[in-house]
Amino acid sequence: CLWVRNLRHKRRLPGPFPWPVVGNAMQLGQMPHITFFNMAKKYGNVYQIRLGCNDIVVLNGDTAIHQALIQHSTEFAGRPNFISFQAVSGGKSISFGNYSTQWKLHRRIAQSTLRAFSSANSQTKKAFEQHIVGEALDLVQVFLRLSADGRYFNPSHELTVAAANVICALCFGKRYGHDDIEFKTLLSRVEKFGETVGAGSLVDVMPWLQSFPNPVRSIYRNFKELNKEYFAFIKDNVIQHRETYNPEVTRDMSDAIIRVIDKADNATGLTKAHTEGTVADLIGAGLDTVSTALHWMLLLLVKYPHIQTKLQEQIDKVVGRDRLPSTEDKSSLAYLDAFIYETMRFTTFVPFTIPHSTTSDVTIDGVHIPRDTVVFINQWSVNHDPQKWKDPHVFNPSRFLNENGILDKDLTSSVMIFSMGKRRCIGDQIAKAEIFLYSAILLHQCSFENSPTQDLTMDCSYGLTLRPLSFTISAKLRGKILNGA
Ligand code: HEM
Repeated sequence: CLWVRNLRHKRRLPGPFPWPVVGNAMQLGQMPHITFFNMAKKYGNVYQIRLGCNDIVVLNGDTAIHQALIQHSTEFAGRPNFISFQAVSGGKSISFGNYSTQWKLHRRIAQSTLRAFSSANSQTKKAFEQHIVGEALDLVQVFLRLSADGRYFNPSHELTVAAANVICALCFGKRYGHDDIEFKTLLSRVEKFGETVGAGSLVDVMPWLQSFPNPVRSIYRNFKELNKEYFAFIKDNVIQHRETYNPEVTRDMSDAIIRVIDKADNATGLTKAHTEGTVADLIGAGLDTVSTALHWMLLLLVKYPHIQTKLQEQIDKVVGRDRLPSTEDKSSLAYLDAFIYETMRFTTFVPFTIPHSTTSDVTIDGVHIPRDTVVFINQWSVNHDPQKWKDPHVFNPSRFLNENGILDKDLTSSVMIFSMGKRRCIGDQIAKAEIFLYSAILLHQCSFENSPTQDLTMDCSYGLTLRPLSFTISAKLRGKILNGA
């Protein structure tokens, strides 16, 4: 084990004492990112824990994480061979697949396809933005309907459909209605995905938990089922695309991926299964993350009404009431940008990256880490480091603005939510564009209110993403409805 191997190298990694059988599993608590952040105060930013029989290195803080993911980017680019990871995207996932030459090509294809359909030129940029504007306006209508007669509603399902529709439009050229029951059922199942693959999930580190009835076993069974169901949905759509494929016309990202993987004579071994895996990964990664960001933004807007008013005042001043906000307004809407960065920093709703593993022996912070070691990277610790952030536990968008109201780009780039290095999120630009346009349009068109009987908290469920517990709001129209034409 890692401990023995480190003895050989003379330096054992610091860390809490691991108990027999479970290791440190009982110490993780409900919010492992906070537990690990607190442990770093005692053991330093690079330390070791044990979960089941797996020795795991935990990295905290900007310096150690930067050293690992940027200076030793290749050594830290692997993924553990967890059984749950193999169940994702038909076993051909980019996100959960290990580092290899074939993986690099696979990732590059996904990355350039995303770019080609979102920001490659002014035409694709416009088309991409139109999808978001359409979904945002639909959301406004649905919110107003759900708020009729002074009602309060839970926005969760609507936000998930909105986020899903943007990525489905890019991948399949189609969207789904907010009342589509089949789609609703699928999305509510996929939401549970992150329970199993987040750092500290016990399924992979204690495989024996699967041999008798317990909550972990049922979570894992559900996980396998939801992956099967979700992948069947993706496969159906990709197969329909194959059947109607025309090399002269690239309708959407599925066609583009079919062209570069299915139809290419590539010696790298990428197969049709990789085409399906790519589409499954892109839709899966674009669903839960963006919708979680939107959940937190709505919650924070109703929790801090003075911030909501200030945002609306700036939007009204810059955009006026006769047109909708667009991405061209971004540079003039510094407070909105600051609000988005502060939401990402404060909530760190992706608290850890997906677990990494080392591809070869490596030394960081003077500590030797052997090859094939599982590594947890605590993004939350970077965003709550008191050395870096004044009052890190206070929600304050203005921290990102200088005295002239200009966005401090050095500070915004210090927020860590998309990871860094070889595994950095490939959807960061489209995610940021979506979050900006959704929030600008929603705030321009509506005011949001907390229910008088509801005490809003920051309580959330833990997984790959941190989701706020269910809450209700009400939306009121601000002036006339615009149609975005
Ligand atoms: C990976 C964050 C949206 C595609 C990741 C990772 C994080 C992340 C933390 C793990 C990186 C690592 O393991 O080091 C986010 C956040 C999002 C978001 C916060 C929204 C606010 C998206 C979108 C897409 C996407 C919209 C695509 C449409 C991916 C892919 C990976 C990934 C394919 C795997 C990268 C790899 O393993 O090499 N993302 N993501 N993400 N993300 Fe995102």
